[in-house]
Amino acid sequence: MKEKILLAGASGALGLEVLKLLHEQGKDVRALVHSADGADKVSDYTDDIWKADASEGNEIIKDITKDVSMVISTLGKSVSLFTDRGKSFMENDFYANSNILDDAKKNKVKRFLYVSIKGAEKALEYEVAKSHKMFEDALEASGLDYTIIRPVGFFSGLNDLAIMAKRKVIPIIGDGDSRTNSIHQKDLAKVVVRYLNEGPEILEVGGPLVHTRREMADMVADRIGGKVIPVPEKVAEWGMFLPEMVDDDISAKLKYFKYVTTNDMIGEKNGDITFEQYLSGLDLEKDLP
Ligand SMILES: NC(=O)c1ccc[n+]([C@@H]2O[C@H](COP(=O)([O-])OP(=O)(O)OC[C@H]3O[C@@H](n4cnc5c(N)ncnc54)[C@H](OP(=O)(O)O)[C@@H]3O)[C@@H](O)[C@H]2O)c1
Repeated sequence: MKEKILLAGASGALGLEVLKLLHEQGKDVRALVHSADGADKVSDYTDDIWKADASEGNEIIKDITKDVSMVISTLGKSVSLFTDRGKSFMENDFYANSNILDDAKKNKVKRFLYVSIKGAEKALEYEVAKSHKMFEDALEASGLDYTIIRPVGFFSGLNDLAIMAKRKVIPIIGDGDSRTNSIHQKDLAKVVVRYLNEGPEILEVGGPLVHTRREMADMVADRIGGKVIPVPEKVAEWGMFLPEMVDDDISAKLKYFKYVTTNDMIGEKNGDITFEQYLSGLDLEKDLP
């Protein structure tokens, strides 16, 4: 009998690319998604689809790992400023994944591959990092064989800049000198699949080219239009108090956005799709609201 893989977050920007690769390799995949839209996205690649809010407790996903030999989780709350609010980072990134892990332990799953975030261990004052790190700790303590991948930002995550560019303003916080090697989600999916059977406990993954935030903002402006506007760090911090008063979700996202854009975020080089190639492939009408 073929070994079954549970892919949690299978309909996400990264999860869907992982699902396509597993499908190409003829793997038997059970997909966990949250929404009806998510279920639609994965339906070309598997018939074994669970649609549930995994943060709601163990019962709702009881035995989701039955007959499963390994779990891959790309499940998490979107970091985009332009997506719906829904649940918190703690509820999705920590509780939902913890419920899956509990089920995996009960059903004696062999291996668990978790996609966390670069900076998870350093930036614990931010909810995004803290909830990923709390799950990393739970996974390490679980006794399961595991690999944790901490990626830098995905190109899909940089769509926020492209959306702002379409609205004519591209903000960069601080001097724009911080560097990163963001990665295409297709390239990251290849890294995930490379470590299916074995891998290091933790690895930090980035894309092929390192750019400053200013260079990236300029590339977005060249492709889409809009003006690059530097926002002094102090002004950005002050601006973050305003949403905090009305919306914890936006506030958590803005704070992490400031953290990642004002610190170097560089992971081991992987893949070959460049940010410029990604931008030139965007359909400005279809891909950006
Ligand atoms: N985007 C970035 O730049 C970036 C950078 C580094 C790390 N990461 C991390 O990588 C992971 C994947 O990111 P992504 O951009 O691919 O995310 P995404 O596009 O927002 O996809 C999230 C996936 O998780 C599912 N999901 C979310 N909450 C759920 C819940 N409570 N129960 C069941 N399913 C749930 C979603 O299902 P539906 O589609 O049905 O809603 C979707 O399949 C996240 O943990 C993120 O923090 C992202």
